[in-house]
Amino acid sequence: MRQHIARAPAKVNLQLSVGPLQDDGYHDLVTVFHAVGLFDDVHATAAEPGAGISLSVTGVQRDLVPLDSTNLAWRAAQALANHAGVDPDVHLRITKGIPVAGGMAGGSADAAAALVACDSLWGLRTPRAELMEIAATLGSDVPFGLHGGTAIGTGRGEILTPVLTRSSFWWVFALAEGGLSTPAVYAECDRLRAGSAVAAPMLSGPLMSALRSGDASEVAKNLSNDLERAAVSLRPSLSRVLGLGEEYAALRAIVSGSGPTCAFLARDGEHALDLSVALSSAGLCRTVVRASAPVPGAALV
Ligand code: C5P
Repeated sequence: MRQHIARAPAKVNLQLSVGPLQDDGYHDLVTVFHAVGLFDDVHATAAEPGAGISLSVTGVQRDLVPLDSTNLAWRAAQALANHAGVDPDVHLRITKGIPVAGGMAGGSADAAAALVACDSLWGLRTPRAELMEIAATLGSDVPFGLHGGTAIGTGRGEILTPVLTRSSFWWVFALAEGGLSTPAVYAECDRLRAGSAVAAPMLSGPLMSALRSGDASEVAKNLSNDLERAAVSLRPSLSRVLGLGEEYAALRAIVSGSGPTCAFLARDGEHALDLSVALSSAGLCRTVVRASAPVPGAALV
């Protein structure tokens, strides 16, 4: 029997500029997504006619992942079935490699991979543009889970423009015990900025030049994340983790997205290995992983 397994990457935001809160409860963003080599796999298996969707999860932090229709992968399968007019009879098995509620879009990766795996299982051959449209209805980061690479995100983050980068970059991620809720981090960002004027977000020209040049130290200088202060405010221990970046000569340490994962940019693969050993031995985080980037978006394995 043919396997229908799709793999989707985690992301880190190289720039995350958050504009004012809009009437719809979302913030206008200018972000630069960067797909990193940490992956979730979604395995789609045919179920009996009428069985509907079921879900199981293996891998680290599996107990933190919902197994019902609140799971983004479940919602992705349902949305694709609705779009195509087929019965959503499928068992989805997710293997987690991406931290749960870690600010690395793990749930969005699962949704992107579920779209690709179910599309294959049901033999739909849905055009890419239509999959992207379905993805945008599921969550702000889901289209990027399909897209991968490096891309500018505007709107809620779902409108993507690809960015060509010259080389690969090496990252080390300090994974925290327990996650942070994305809406809670955005709300804290609003609370911290209350009373001050919030400018419309703008793409960083120096970051774009640095990505074009492929110079990791230039990229490091131009990383920015408007949610970092809010994540640290909700989880003060993160400032110590970020401080280790300087201590161990990372090019730069930032909070990944809404956190609590911290991302350290390294000079190269060897530097990333040294950094990960040093960060592990500091004992301030649950685990430390290395990954290169950019990597492609969700695809069949
Ligand atoms: O789109 P998604 O469901 O991933 O967003 C999760 C939450 O993150 C939203 O409910 C909102 O609180 C916050 N968010 C936001 N502005 C964005 C994207 C997400 O405020 N552009």
